[in-house]
Amino acid sequence: MADLDRFKDQRVLVTGGAGFVGCNIVRRLLNIGASVIVLDDFYTGKEDNLPIGHPKLEVVRGSVTDFDLVRRVVKASETVVHEAARNIIVSMRNPREDYEVNIGGTLNVLMAVREAGVRRMVYASSASIYGNPRYIPINEEDAANMLTPYSVSKFAGENYCKAFYESYGTSTAVVRYSNVYGIAQRPDNPYCGVVAKFFESAVAGEALHIHGDGQQTRDFTFVEDVTEATLLAALSPKAEGQVYNVATGYEASINQLARLIIEVTGNRVALDYVDRRDIDNIRRRVLNIEKIRRDLRWIPSVTLEQGLRRTFQWLQEAGGRKAEV
Ligand SMILES: NC(=O)c1ccc[n+]([C@@H]2O[C@H](COP(=O)([O-])OP(=O)(O)OC[C@H]3O[C@@H](n4cnc5c(N)ncnc54)[C@H](O)[C@@H]3O)[C@@H](O)[C@H]2O)c1
Repeated sequence: MADLDRFKDQRVLVTGGAGFVGCNIVRRLLNIGASVIVLDDFYTGKEDNLPIGHPKLEVVRGSVTDFDLVRRVVKASETVVHEAARNIIVSMRNPREDYEVNIGGTLNVLMAVREAGVRRMVYASSASIYGNPRYIPINEEDAANMLTPYSVSKFAGENYCKAFYESYGTSTAVVRYSNVYGIAQRPDNPYCGVVAKFFESAVAGEALHIHGDGQQTRDFTFVEDVTEATLLAALSPKAEGQVYNVATGYEASINQLARLIIEVTGNRVALDYVDRRDIDNIRRRVLNIEKIRRDLRWIPSVTLEQGLRRTFQWLQEAGGRKAEV
């Protein structure tokens, strides 16, 4: 396994570093001893997610759509972790905004990475590109089946990474995350995932709203495992030009998740079945993680129940507020 200590004294740019996944990556890098630049427009990101004032952290407020700015921050970096994106809900409401940020922004980052000769750029993609898969568990080479504008833009970003690698030798790696949850996923963010929403309701003693029959499944991945996988992809020579599923290989239904959250919080709230939303068009999702296990020697270390317990502990202790390093 690549040794993450090699990030010590490296300069790493994390776009979207004030967001949920990004801030976990930033904190991990600072703990290792890296210098980190965060580029974030604070659309969903929060300063509270970051240890502002840390001597090795520079926070730049701005958008990945601003090419001159992207160029400047990329030039100062040896490695780039590209997490910045408009999320699926914004994307459904305004596909053009999604297009400009998720596709245009990614192209800007890639162009700047190529120009500066950055060592490696890792791109955060999404399992949503698989849509409703024909086979379970899903392999990286299975067909993409894009059911939302968001999955189109995330997949376009992947394809640009591949094209830059093939055409110009730009060192890229793609990580396809599946339903990330955990520390720093704030329930007060209207775009947060189902785990944070269920926790918020359960803690308030309110019913958990389940869209559809609750039999739909997802592969929920704890954010610390996602952080580790992303940083390994940023270091490993084997990851160059590759795409990796980042998941657990464990298929959990929304009903099962709801029951676990009730158990973890100890609040026996009701389950309230409501209509499906337009983004709830994926029935089953579980990913094959053999490739990342084999190439990067990464396996998830946190089970769903353990991850939910740790998330609940964080929600209780921090109330979702300050970042600590
Ligand atoms: N959370 C998940 O379950 C999940 C699953 C699959 C893929 N992903 C991908 O992982 C990445 C991080 O997602 P997240 O869950 O942390 O979301 P998030 O919304 O918490 O983080 C995204 C960050 O990007 C910033 N951002 C948005 N537009 C920007 C712009 N134009 N310029 C600069 N910064 C901008 C936001 O302010 C935020 O800090 C995204 O690329 C997302 O597509 C997440």
